[in-house]
Amino acid sequence: MNFSVSSLALVLALAAPAFAQQPPPGRPPAAGTLGGPVTGLTTAEMALFRDGLTGFRQVETADSGLGPIFNDISCIACHNAGGAGGASRRTVTRFGLTRDGHFDPLTARGGSLLQQRALDPSFREVVPVEANTLARRVTTPVFGAGLIEAIPDATLLAAAAASKPDGVRGRAALINDITTGKQRVGRFGWKAQHATLLAFTADAYVNEMGITNRFFPEENAPNGNTGLLARADQINDPEDEVNPSTGRTDVDRTAAFMRLLAPPPRGRITADVTAGERLFASLNCTTCHTPALTTGSSSIAALSRKRVALYSDLLLHDMGALGDGIAEGPAGVRELRTAPLWGLSARPVYLHDGRTDSLNTAIRAHDGEAAPAKNRYVQLPAAQQQQLIAFLRSL
Ligand code: HEC
Ligand code: HEC
Repeated sequence: MNFSVSSLALVLALAAPAFAQQPPPGRPPAAGTLGGPVTGLTTAEMALFRDGLTGFRQVETADSGLGPIFNDISCIACHNAGGAGGASRRTVTRFGLTRDGHFDPLTARGGSLLQQRALDPSFREVVPVEANTLARRVTTPVFGAGLIEAIPDATLLAAAAASKPDGVRGRAALINDITTGKQRVGRFGWKAQHATLLAFTADAYVNEMGITNRFFPEENAPNGNTGLLARADQINDPEDEVNPSTGRTDVDRTAAFMRLLAPPPRGRITADVTAGERLFASLNCTTCHTPALTTGSSSIAALSRKRVALYSDLLLHDMGALGDGIAEGPAGVRELRTAPLWGLSARPVYLHDGRTDSLNTAIRAHDGEAAPAKNRYVQLPAAQQQQLIAFLRSL
C-alpha cells in the first residue's frame, strides 16, 4: 500500500503499540491444549518445554541486553492470545521506498522494520521522510510450530511444482538458513521468510527486542545512525549469553519451547461445520489451504511422521491487491504465504495487517491467484457462507 508522506504520521499514531497484560506465571496448560506441550513428550523434552516457556515469558531489561531500540520487552508481550505462543492484535511496522516498481527497504535508514521504542527517547526511530510505502504486520501464532518446522522441504517443493486449478501457482520460498548456511524452504512468517524456529527466534531477539546473539551479532543502528548507536549501546555483543550449566542460550531455549508447543485443538464438529468443510473444498480454497501435510522423521518422537492439519501449503502466492507492497527475503511485493488456518478461533484479528475481525471480510479481501475461489464464495447463498464460516471457526 502506498501512502503520501504527510499521512505517515497519522498512520504511525494509529499503529502505536497497545501493551498487553501479562498472564501470571504458573504451570503450563495440559498437553494438547492451547499454550500446552504436544502430547507424547518424554520427561526430558517436557523439561525443555517448561524451561523454554520461562525464556518466552522473560521480561528483558537494559542489563539483559534490551535495546537500544526495540519493539517490546518479551516474546509473550506480543504472542499471547489463547495462551503463551498465541497471536494478538499487536502489529509491527515496515517501511520502504517504491520507485519505478522497485521496492527499496531503505536498509541504510534502518528499514524495513521500524523499532518503535528506545531505551532513551532521543534515539527512537522514525519513518524516514523518503519512505513512501508503509505496511503493518500483525503477530502470528506459533502453536504447533514444531510440526510445521518438521515438514520436509521436498514436500513443499513438490507442492509448488504440482499443477493446480484456477491458474493458481504458488512458489516455494527459497532462503538461506542463517543457522546452518544451507538453502532451505522458508515457512514461518507472513512472507515465509524463515525455515527454522532457531533462525526466527534469533531474528526476533535482535529485531523485536534488540538482543544480539550468535546468529545476529550486530545491533540495529537507530535509523541507520552508527554514531548514535556507538553512544547508545554499552553492552558487549552477543548479548544472548551461554548458560554455563546447560550450554544453551535464551535463543536456544525459546526456540525449543515453540518446537514443543501443541497444535491448536479442533472445536466442536456440528452439522454446519461438516457442510462448511465440504464447501471449503468445492470452492477450491483447499488449493492453497491444504488441509494436512505430514512431517518427516524427527529425533523428537512426538513430531515424527505426524499429520499436521494446518490448512496451508506454506507457499508464496501472488495475492494481487491484498499484497502489502513490501519485498522481503524470498517474497515479492504482492506475495504472501498461505496463512495456516488452524487455530483461527483463537485469533483476535485476521490478514497480514490485522485489518479485520470478520472472517467474511478476510475472505472477500482475497485477490490475485485467489480471486476465482473468492468469487465463488461471494456467489454462495448467505446460509452456505455461514456454514463455511462455522467450519473456519471450528479450526
Ligand atoms: C513487537 C511484537 C513482537 C515481539 C516482541 C515478538 N514477536 Fe514474534 N511475531 C510478531 C509479528 C508481527 C510476527 C509476524 C512477522 C512477519 O511475518 O513479518 C511474528 C512472527 C513470529 C514467528 C513466525 C510464526 C509464523 O509461522 O508465522 C515466530 C516463530 C515468532 N514470531 C517468534 C517470536 C519469539 C521467539 C519472540 C521473542 C524472542 C518474538 N516472536 C517476539 C511480533 C512480535
Ligand atoms: C491462491 C491461494 C489462496 C486461495 C485459493 C485461498 N486463500 Fe485464503 N489465504 C491465502 C493467503 C496468501 C492468505 C494470507 C493473506 C493475508 O494475510 O493478507 C490467506 C488468508 C486467509 C484467511 C485469513 C487467515 C489469517 O491468518 O488471517 C482466511 C480466513 C482464508 N484465507 C480463507 C480462505 C477461504 C475460505 C478460501 C476459499 C474461498 C481461501 N482462503 C482461498 C491464500 C489463499
